[in-house]
Amino acid sequence: MEGVLLLLVLAPALAHARDVTDEQYSQFPRLFHLDDYSSCLARPGGLYCLGSFHIAPLSEPSPVYNMLKEYSEDVHHFNRTELHRGYCVSSRCPALAGERNASRRFSRCAGLRARRHALRLTLHMLRYCRTHAQEYAAQHSSEPMDEPQKLFLLVVAALLAMNVIGTAYDLLTDGNDKKFAALSAWSMRSNWRRLTASYEDCDPRISALSPVQGVRVLLLVLIIAAHSGCVQVALYISNPRWIEQMSHHPLLMLFLNGTSVVQVFIMLSNFLLAYNLLLYSKVQRLSFRMLPYITIKRIVRSVIQLDIQYKRRQKISPVYLLVVGYAATWWASAGASPLWPAAVGAESAACRRKFWTHAFYLNNLIDPEDICLVQTWFLAVDMQLYILAAMLTVYLSSRRERALLVLASLVAASCLLNGLLAYAFDWKSLMFIAYPGPLSRMYRGLPSFSRLYEAPWGSLPPCLMGLFFAFLHFELQEAGVKVSSYKWLKLPYHVAPVAIVAWILSGHWLRAYSAPWFVAGYVALERPLLSCLSGIILLGMFNGLEGWQKQIFSWRGWQVMGRMSLAVLAVHWCVNMGIAAARHQPVHSSLLSVTMEWLATTCFSYLIGIPLTVMVEMPAQRFVTALIM
Ligand SMILES: *[C@@H]1O[C@H](CO)[C@@H](O)[C@H](O)[C@H]1NC(C)=O
Ligand SMILES: *[C@@H]1O[C@H](CO)[C@@H](O)[C@H](O)[C@H]1NC(C)=O
Repeated sequence: MEGVLLLLVLAPALAHARDVTDEQYSQFPRLFHLDDYSSCLARPGGLYCLGSFHIAPLSEPSPVYNMLKEYSEDVHHFNRTELHRGYCVSSRCPALAGERNASRRFSRCAGLRARRHALRLTLHMLRYCRTHAQEYAAQHSSEPMDEPQKLFLLVVAALLAMNVIGTAYDLLTDGNDKKFAALSAWSMRSNWRRLTASYEDCDPRISALSPVQGVRVLLLVLIIAAHSGCVQVALYISNPRWIEQMSHHPLLMLFLNGTSVVQVFIMLSNFLLAYNLLLYSKVQRLSFRMLPYITIKRIVRSVIQLDIQYKRRQKISPVYLLVVGYAATWWASAGASPLWPAAVGAESAACRRKFWTHAFYLNNLIDPEDICLVQTWFLAVDMQLYILAAMLTVYLSSRRERALLVLASLVAASCLLNGLLAYAFDWKSLMFIAYPGPLSRMYRGLPSFSRLYEAPWGSLPPCLMGLFFAFLHFELQEAGVKVSSYKWLKLPYHVAPVAIVAWILSGHWLRAYSAPWFVAGYVALERPLLSCLSGIILLGMFNGLEGWQKQIFSWRGWQVMGRMSLAVLAVHWCVNMGIAAARHQPVHSSLLSVTMEWLATTCFSYLIGIPLTVMVEMPAQRFVTALIM
């Protein structure tokens, strides 16, 4: 039913943007093509190559080439003067078997085909060439394991062993209350209970925060949806024209400009950090000396308690490192398809190069152009801002009378800073560059992505805003203000969800304005405005305002899913890429195929998230806690 509705809504896009006739379009060479991979490499002497070519006319004038070039000038279109090919060189051009150099053989073979269109191809980027012998060796795993791969297996084996020992210990000492905490932390039984428990909180201030988990699950599922669309555009598609036509559609802005909702995550996590610390400051004065402890593991008992229930924000993230470790070692050899070495293999190599930057949460600052698991920038930014936010909170907690003013000025200053940076370096919000071309490269090589979107300063305003809301919420409670009794406050609370959608959608019209001052101004305002609107919703929910938002987000099921957030966030990209890159033919892109990929990724990620959470994240967190305390 919903699918039909969406199709109706999207239908106008199909009638739009017919800037070449179907007849003209049929003369275009195919943008993506893949020969059959397995049958090619099954033959002795088989050679399969994948790469991109530049087109040039064979003779002037060339009407086809001119048409391609003109067509490519529209930002909504893919660059049709580049062709992407996966050829079974050995069976396509048997005459070239004498050529030893695989890349030259591939290039000449593709050149023969293009002659029919009166075009000349030059190999611009060779992704890989694979021979029968290599494939055969890989399939029969006669390729020796390398050191990192062995290390990864060792870590997994150690984790499994700890789980077995911990569970056995827990079962054997059943009924005994005085357990050795560092060991019973690894019990799968008790971690499973923790995962599935629904806490009834006696502290009303804490149970008021319960909608948080629902919000986080919703955001995560939206992020997975955005990434599914992105992966679809980034790999081989049999109908690129559909994407090009779609890219004119106003509703697509929800997805292209919706990437900023990640900022709500940032705001939320800093809100919770500050609020937890403020609650704790009523018990004990906060001091800077506590910070290292809080950073390693929120050592303070009460804070940890909040942590377990509402902030699965593990600072030492074994799950995260485990997933990056997997991506850097075994991921590359987990599949065999024409796109696997090009998409997964290349990313896996990046993970190997950058593993240590991930371990220190510096992956978005060191070599930001080299991306391993797109979503990991968020964890790095979260950590970097976390340190800043914790220090600021401790400092302001003893100067509460001025805190709101200070934080409000800092928010304004950070917005200004981003605007100025954007103006000086010509950085843009993603919406201005979200066209099929850059999307298909996943924004690689664009400073707007690597230096602004992924950078800590880009997320500074939402972070500070989270602190501001935390202080505000705390002060309101301290003063005993009953927010729900103010009638006029209900209006912004109910309007905010609509305003968020409208603000994201407005990008469709706003991106037509490209004056530098406008783009910089948009950078300065976009994220803060979104965070502010969602902050209003959150504060309203925490302060007892009712409404559909609160009812939806307070559902108990979210609690369980919310506890798996980190594992799911870490793992979903591998799942999504795995599903998409395992295909042997270019995918026929459609709303249905994106939706299916999204649902499949979500299901598999949550399924994988269960063992990751129960057997790695929870025990590791409890283990560290047990050791420090
Ligand atoms: C398309 O690709 C060709 C070759 O890489 C490049 O020269 C041209 O500038 C590109 N066109 C557009 C509109 O980006
Ligand atoms: C194959 O040819 C290309 C250019 O035609 C050259 O760059 C490359 O080094 C050659 N490879 C080998 C193994 O000779």
